[in-house]
Amino acid sequence: MNTTKRQSFIKSPVGKKILTGITGLGLVIFVIEHMSGNLILMLEGSDAYNAYAHFLEGLGPILYLLELGLLAFFVFHIVLGINIWLGKRRARTHRYVKYRSAGKPSMQSPSSRSMIITGGILLVFLVIHLVSFKFGPGGPLHADPAYVTTVKGEVMRDLSKLVLEKFHHPAYAFGYPIVMLLLGVHLRHGIWSAFQSLGATNPRLTPGLYALGGLLALLIALGFLVLPLWIYFGGAA
Ligand code: HEM
Repeated sequence: MNTTKRQSFIKSPVGKKILTGITGLGLVIFVIEHMSGNLILMLEGSDAYNAYAHFLEGLGPILYLLELGLLAFFVFHIVLGINIWLGKRRARTHRYVKYRSAGKPSMQSPSSRSMIITGGILLVFLVIHLVSFKFGPGGPLHADPAYVTTVKGEVMRDLSKLVLEKFHHPAYAFGYPIVMLLLGVHLRHGIWSAFQSLGATNPRLTPGLYALGGLLALLIALGFLVLPLWIYFGGAA
């Protein structure tokens, strides 16, 4: 694809939908990996969790590359999502499109209509989340000897201590599960919509893909929200 063709693809409504779908599915892979990592704390304990985080940190330049890719996916996904939403809003106010009942094939739902709201809340969550954990005490910008531990003779960040402390506060313990439910609502429409944008438009596949998107969204939300509640109600004590 030459530069002009690439630019007009990115600017076209179909191109924007395809890129939003690709970046969205990439982020789904990240959240599944992240959720599995969190569950290590619940299932295998603090040392195993700290050792896992330390292993990731030890990847050095590979981790930085992955983080750069992740940041690019987030930025693209957010900018394209806002752009698509603005385009639809403009079309509605100028009455370029006539609104009819969404009917069966469009699968409009409260989840699909609230994508911009759930997405906006997740963006605010992400900023608070990174400041609290990644860049919190013991993190790259905030050295703190109180958040250092030794596992099997290796000195590392005591990330487990930070996570346990945070989720003993009711604001984190209950705020997180609410946001995780909103993540589930966002993914409920997002996963199915990404499949559609990437070409899975055969009407015979629609009910199956819609159900699969819903199930995956539910499992991701539940997988994330159990940890804060488990910690708050004394599971880690
Ligand atoms: C109960 C839910 C969650 C918990 C307990 C949790 C915990 C953590 C912790 C402890 C870190 C720091 C990791 C480190 O510094 O090595 C982290 C990083 C991160 N989290 Fe979460 N997280 C949760 C949900 C989420 C969700 C839903 C998202 C995305 C929508 C998310 C996105 C991120 C990102 C982007 C990073 C930085 C990753 C990196 O730079 O390597 N987290 N999380």
